[in-house]
Amino acid sequence: MLDESKFDVNFKLLALRIPRELCTKATRLLNGYLLDKPRVKPITEDPTSEKTRYVILSENVQNPDLSDIPSEKLDELKKLCEIEAVPYSLTLGYSYWTADHILKQILPPGVEANARYSIYPMQVCFHILVLVSGIRIYVGHGHVAHLNIHDELLPFKDVIAKVIYDKNYPRIKTVVNKVGMITNEFRVPKFEILAGESDMVTEVKQYGATFKLDYSLVYWNSRLEHEHIRLVSLFRPGETICDMFAGIGPFAIPAAQKGCLVYANDLNPDSIHYLKINAKINKVDDYVVAYNMDARKFISQLMAVPVCESNLEPDNSMAKACDTCSVKDIDDAKEEGTKLDAREKEVTGTDVKNEVEDVQNSSRTVDSSVVAESGNANSDHKKKGNAHKRMKASVLPKTKAWEHVDHVIMNLPASALQFLDAFRAIISRKNWQGQLPLVHCYCFIRANETTESIISDAESTLNAKIKDPVFHRVRDVAPNKAMFCLSFRLPEACFIEDIPDSTCHATGGL
Ligand SMILES: C[S@@+](CC[C@H](N)C(=O)[O-])C[C@H]1O[C@@H](n2cnc3c(N)ncnc32)[C@H](O)[C@@H]1O
Repeated sequence: MLDESKFDVNFKLLALRIPRELCTKATRLLNGYLLDKPRVKPITEDPTSEKTRYVILSENVQNPDLSDIPSEKLDELKKLCEIEAVPYSLTLGYSYWTADHILKQILPPGVEANARYSIYPMQVCFHILVLVSGIRIYVGHGHVAHLNIHDELLPFKDVIAKVIYDKNYPRIKTVVNKVGMITNEFRVPKFEILAGESDMVTEVKQYGATFKLDYSLVYWNSRLEHEHIRLVSLFRPGETICDMFAGIGPFAIPAAQKGCLVYANDLNPDSIHYLKINAKINKVDDYVVAYNMDARKFISQLMAVPVCESNLEPDNSMAKACDTCSVKDIDDAKEEGTKLDAREKEVTGTDVKNEVEDVQNSSRTVDSSVVAESGNANSDHKKKGNAHKRMKASVLPKTKAWEHVDHVIMNLPASALQFLDAFRAIISRKNWQGQLPLVHCYCFIRANETTESIISDAESTLNAKIKDPVFHRVRDVAPNKAMFCLSFRLPEACFIEDIPDSTCHATGGL
């Protein structure tokens, strides 16, 4: 596979034999004339005597009479001790050279010109180990280094992986290569393991949160870190967030850490498995309610007003909702003396409402007296000001999802726009409190598209005019394709005037 001895480079040098205790002084005097190689010290043991050591001279000092060193420096040195120059052979091999150096020697010349686009630019959040054309290396995934190896370099994939593994072990324990295009609806790439262990369960850190994930089962993209931070910075503690395509929680977890109540959904059961683990790891499981269903179904069930609820006055709705809708669950939990923890359960299509009520009830139960005092949770947060501090459970919103949601996140850029039809006539005007949610819908814009054409598509899917849309360019994904976040307030046309004769979901299911 890889003959490591091929990378041996031998240097014929000179060294001075200097008494052990004078070596430091001697190196100071010889500054500028010493061996200067990264990670190699210019002082080494003398194999012939314990009393002396070798001070290794630079490659530029080749004359055994030391005439390459200025005479005044030599005179100073001679005052210090007797000096003797000896030949010194230094071999730097595979273990010395960087991955970049080795790969540049292995890979065919000219690849750079052919595969320029594949060079991923160096980014702080995204440490790139080597910058060799034709390979994109993503190492923001815990112990997994993910390569995208360009076609012309595929014959070298094993050797590339070995070098990256060898040079970064133990930080990197697995090297994988992405195979083919992502075609599955969970947006999970296929990988082949090229080097190291096959364990793809790893932990990554973003903005102080820890995320556990199985890289082979769920979507993860370290390059979205800035976008996750940017969007969450728009949220205020105590707000209600609805994440329709949540993945393992890179928006949901930091939003919850900020004190938001997050309804987080994903179709991929493995994503929800890790989302729940991550909520626990980051100690925000009281703030995250996880759902595993199609996003359309999720949003329509979350926003649907139970029949029993629609006639209630807003200020006592929660108490009556408990009596009528989810009394069985709550009472059972109380009788058993268990904590009413909605997050422990896998939420499926039939019990969305139960979960919503459970988490809201439990958050109120935590500190209802403070809730009563604070009045409006949102205005209370504004007064307190610090948007980045985790808030107490007491400031969780008093409203239910069908009464108020502040932000909706739709991060499925290839098709999120098509899901906007889910908002047609689902919000009951009678029950809604305050402004309609801000929707943050991710999309791709290609060279032949414009922001106007995207808005036009969004409006026809939504069947409503969008006012004051804002586009944020997230990143370029290809030369003619960029990812954007389109943010807009859900238009009033999304209200329904009459509450449909829907459900008392908690008792009967949907
Ligand atoms: C691009 S990923 C984004 C995940 C996460 N927001 C992030 O930033 O890492 C899109 C997610 O949508 C999920 N998904 C795909 N189709 C879905 C659907 N119809 N309903 C709900 N989730 C879906 C996928 O499983 C995937 O986790």
